[in-house]
Amino acid sequence: MKKGILEIRDLRKHYRLRRTRLLKKPGSIKALNGVSLSISKGESFGLVGESGCGKSTAAYTIVGLLKPTEGRILFKGNDVTSLNRDQKREFRKKVQLIFQDTSGSLNPKGTVEWILREPLRAMGMQKKEIKELILESMNLVGLDKDLLGRFPHELSGGQKQRVGIMNALILNPEVVIADEPISSLDVSIQAQILNLMNDLQERLSLTYLFISHDLNVVHYFCDRIAVMYLGEIVELSESEELYRSPLHPYTQSLLSAIPGETGHKLERIILEGDAPSPLNPPTGCFFHPRCFRRMAICSSVKPQMTEVTKDHFVSCHLY
Ligand SMILES: Nc1ncnc2c1ncn2[C@@H]1O[C@H](COP(=O)(O)OP(=O)(O)O)[C@@H](O)[C@H]1O
Ligand code: SF4
Ligand SMILES: [Mg+2]
Repeated sequence: MKKGILEIRDLRKHYRLRRTRLLKKPGSIKALNGVSLSISKGESFGLVGESGCGKSTAAYTIVGLLKPTEGRILFKGNDVTSLNRDQKREFRKKVQLIFQDTSGSLNPKGTVEWILREPLRAMGMQKKEIKELILESMNLVGLDKDLLGRFPHELSGGQKQRVGIMNALILNPEVVIADEPISSLDVSIQAQILNLMNDLQERLSLTYLFISHDLNVVHYFCDRIAVMYLGEIVELSESEELYRSPLHPYTQSLLSAIPGETGHKLERIILEGDAPSPLNPPTGCFFHPRCFRRMAICSSVKPQMTEVTKDHFVSCHLY
């Protein structure tokens, strides 16, 4: 694997559940089951999968909001868990998160200016410097400075997400992890936010980990795509290649649901049942209970990730 600016190695996150009246035995939700990725500087890397597959858990674990159960996160080759205090502070600045739900992530009691100012002040920045930085950032994300005195509930969805983006960018990060940044927005403004993120990537030389449940959006936005199912990566490839020749039956089903010209000529595939619970994942290939191509081996033996064609990896017994 080529060395990336951000490398995730065999990341696992299990949420422990305590015993309750309903849950007789304490259990654990296996939200991430050994995720490995290497994101190169300057690329847009897409992580796609249906709701509940572990995308947000991955995002929060990578930025340090959650503690991994196992695995390693390397930023520029350094293991994030073994950084000293100064290095940790630097990492927090350099790797930032854009939240899916800006309404929940912006303090409702503060004005836009207060929300942006407080973290900078806590870092010891001077008043004048903060003011300049905020004005420059407002300009960068296309917000009028008159909005500085407004409260989050006085902003539109698109304006709130621009504040969320500004919040992530104000300390000049290198990597931005965007957790479904457009899925809570009206369709009419989704494209504006995507264009803004594209534009900012170029101007600020950003590296993106772009998370979405929508394969069409990641195809449009990303250079490479990893497809996730029940806490595992099942396929990883360059974006155009994945769109043209999806290998994993799960990826094929996702793509077959996209109307219009996709290039793969798949008939619409309707999967049986819902995704199984990560509290009790299936044996063998996690996808086998829903797979339309399953074989005898699939329910007992876990497939390994293999490189089928150059830079196109899949985890499935068919290959
Ligand atoms: N704090 C938590 N405690 C227990 N289970 C959680 C918690 N957060 C998420 N989960 C579970 O972990 C799995 C992955 O969730 P999440 O990472 O939010 O997925 P996604 O972002 O892809 O929708 C889901 O089954 C979810 O219910
Ligand atoms: S390993 Fe088997 S069950 Fe899993 S995706 Fe491949 S064919 Fe389907
Ligand atoms: Mg999520």
